[in-house]
Amino acid sequence: MTTPALPPIPADRLPALLRAMPKAELHMHIEGSLEPELIFALAQRNGVALPYASVEELRRAYAFTNLQSFLDIYYAGASVLLKEQDFHDMAWAYLERAAADNVVHTEMFFDPQTHTARGVAMQTVIDGLHRACVDAKAKLGVSAALILCFLRHLSEEEAFATLEQALPFRDKIVGIGLDSSEVGHPPEKFARVFARCRELGFHLVAHAGEEGPPAYVWSALDVLKVERVDHGVQSTKDPALMKRLAQDRIPLTVCPLSNLKLCVFPDLARHNLGQLLDAGLVATVNSDDPAYFGGYMNENFVQTFAATGLTAQHAWQLAANSFEGSFVDAQTKAGWMARLNESFAQFGKA
Ligand code: ADE
Ligand code: ZN
Repeated sequence: MTTPALPPIPADRLPALLRAMPKAELHMHIEGSLEPELIFALAQRNGVALPYASVEELRRAYAFTNLQSFLDIYYAGASVLLKEQDFHDMAWAYLERAAADNVVHTEMFFDPQTHTARGVAMQTVIDGLHRACVDAKAKLGVSAALILCFLRHLSEEEAFATLEQALPFRDKIVGIGLDSSEVGHPPEKFARVFARCRELGFHLVAHAGEEGPPAYVWSALDVLKVERVDHGVQSTKDPALMKRLAQDRIPLTVCPLSNLKLCVFPDLARHNLGQLLDAGLVATVNSDDPAYFGGYMNENFVQTFAATGLTAQHAWQLAANSFEGSFVDAQTKAGWMARLNESFAQFGKA
């Protein structure tokens, strides 16, 4: 996408512009949008016992040292989800927040194995999430799609079984992803199941280079043949990989507040989002698990720009990249780009 001549935006208007501009979210785990209040409400509704006495005590447990320390709490939080309505209510709460942040399109990850392992049927999960997606289009004007993720700490055989269970609902799933504990579970472990998903016509993405090495990003590209890399921030350690990502216009779905909370970077000022953009990569901003990491989309944008000194030009590029990287048709993308340019023109005038 070629950059148009952008109107000058006064620096003090940048936060308002970041909030107002239309954007797509390409990396968020719907189970990571469960706010402590909703976890407690669903626990009560379903008679599930929680190992925390109060919302405050649960929130205090959100002090993470790395990815695994977060995942342990995240999977425990998801245990309150049992019925179709629970999955709907969780997704609806996120979609309302997304709409308030001027997210016009979102591609939401879900982790079915977290639920089927507890005896929840695949249909219950997908029907609830899908109904929220349909409601979001009709009531909020937000388009929403679902990406089914395999848990990489489980086996490839279990991923195949999950795929089988999901196939009756394939029209409700736009793509397949790979998440959970990265280090020690390289993309190669899922080569065969991703090849099958590719034959079936799914879009493919995978978490790689969040905590894991650049080698995992290479194998996500070359072995799994993904179209986007989730996180990918470790790629800056490998100049040849940076060149490949830029040349092939592989989107990286970067999650700055997640990286901060999981100690991938010591502070936001040292985040490498600017380096990725300035190297010509199709980097995007996303919230990952917003209920756990202290912010939805606009918080990710505003806090990262404040800490790193990124400019209005970067803001335009990030929004444009989010549309380019989305799994929708070219005409829809062009419509969003027109809205983005209109938003910048409005801010240039004021
Ligand atoms: N599941 C939920 N959030 C995740 C993350 N940031 N990395 C890997 N798996 C996840
Ligand atoms: Zn993630």
